[in-house]
Amino acid sequence: MCNYCGCQEQTLIRDYYAEHNGSRDLADRARRQMDEGRYDEAREHVTLLLAELEGHWAGEEGGLFAVMVDRYPDDFADYIRPLVEEHRALATFLRELDVTDAEHRAAFAAQVLELHEHMMREEDSLFPASVVTFDGEDWTRAIDGWQQAHPGRELIAD
Ligand SMILES: [Fe+2]
Ligand SMILES: [Fe+2]
Repeated sequence: MCNYCGCQEQTLIRDYYAEHNGSRDLADRARRQMDEGRYDEAREHVTLLLAELEGHWAGEEGGLFAVMVDRYPDDFADYIRPLVEEHRALATFLRELDVTDAEHRAAFAAQVLELHEHMMREEDSLFPASVVTFDGEDWTRAIDGWQQAHPGRELIAD
């Protein structure tokens, strides 16, 4: 997690961090339940995880990522493309996951580690880069994109 540039002070970035933490918690809980043979609970947590991630991904892709690619393509397009591909690949994996299958469970454990690494790439590089690059109009657009992905929800208040 980035603790040096103040990016968590930025309202939208703080929300993305909170969504990451929520997703990591759900993923870790599902993995522990699989390890303990509690497959019904694990399946419920995988469903919750996918829902949380789909909202999060829509908020990133329609918000911060869209602005970064539109406004600063030379700086960010190549960095963001694989992140979006990883969103789609993980969605497909989670939809097809059978928690009662040992190979699927092993693959899930590997996917959780990859998800942690994916989020680190965003937290350590992309989010701080947006904070030093964006102007006020960029933030307004990025927050509008996030809002469309989360109708009726408010960004975390101060
Ligand atoms: Fe992401
Ligand atoms: Fe993310």
